[in-house]
Amino acid sequence: MTRVIRDFKKRSARVIKFSDSVEGALNELRAAVQNAPVSSRLSDERFDVTHETFERSSSQQQLVLQTLKDLIDSHEDSSGSLRVLSVGCGSGILDNQLISALASSAGTFEYTGVDPNPVACHRFREDFKKLGLPNVKLKVKTETVEALNINEPFDVIQLTHALYYFKDPADTLEKLRRLLAPGGKLIIVHAPNECLNQLSECFWSHHAEQGIWFSKCLEEHLVKQDIEFTSHRIHGEVDVTRCFEEGCPHGEKLLDFITQSDCQESDAEVRARCLHFLKKISRVDGESLKVEHPADVFVVM
Ligand SMILES: C[S@@+](CC[C@H](N)C(=O)[O-])C[C@H]1O[C@@H](n2cnc3c(N)ncnc32)[C@H](O)[C@@H]1O
Repeated sequence: MTRVIRDFKKRSARVIKFSDSVEGALNELRAAVQNAPVSSRLSDERFDVTHETFERSSSQQQLVLQTLKDLIDSHEDSSGSLRVLSVGCGSGILDNQLISALASSAGTFEYTGVDPNPVACHRFREDFKKLGLPNVKLKVKTETVEALNINEPFDVIQLTHALYYFKDPADTLEKLRRLLAPGGKLIIVHAPNECLNQLSECFWSHHAEQGIWFSKCLEEHLVKQDIEFTSHRIHGEVDVTRCFEEGCPHGEKLLDFITQSDCQESDAEVRARCLHFLKKISRVDGESLKVEHPADVFVVM
């Protein structure tokens, strides 16, 4: 299939060939990204707003929430107040829901969030205050996990979609394991490198200093280190319909989050190939286009 691509910035037009196969479309996208200038990373504000739009467009977040709640509820707490650490907590769009759910079933507990994004941390604290939960003591630390200096043990440590961003995932995992109280659990919700994440990886790998850890890499690491764990998959779907509406702010936010970069700046060919691949991996659901959005849940004891 061929199509004319107009580049309004360069005031030019080109005829480009698009592969009909998913694999071909991915290879063409990868090549186009590698040949284009590296696009800017998202600002803290843009990351926060696009992350929320993305999560609200997906069925995955509610499935993750239920899984985390069940895993934390099943923790046998012998020492009184439960202590939870959330690493890469973001704006609390997931965590505040989790805290509310736990607050209605658990007694008093302490919840500590860590994230370097000041915009997200501010929002987490403000939204938490609105919940009015007297039995929860919240601390949100605006810093990276690498800089985190805490010695008190935690009953549960959870990392939801955060490990990809760490400088040295193996080193950080060791640090977090050392922070577990006896009998504690480290829960890692992490994406496999499939469908949507293959698209994300094309862009991420363009500005990441190292290969990105997806589920397989994490699993291989745990096996190699002889660390005991369980894992299971959650099957979500994300609605990407509006990515295909020219100039739609919602669609732009989704694309920015998926690519972790400012798509307004993208080269015209990169953008066209990105949308072509996205359509290839979508399924039609009535008037909507949906893409598989799986996550793997690892529990390290
Ligand atoms: C995709 S968001 C996930 C947010 C939250 N866990 C959720 O699921 O809603 C990833 C978060 O990891 C944070 N992050 C990036 N690098 C980090 C680091 N070195 N240490 C801790 N968090 C980090 C980002 O700021 C971002 O808020």
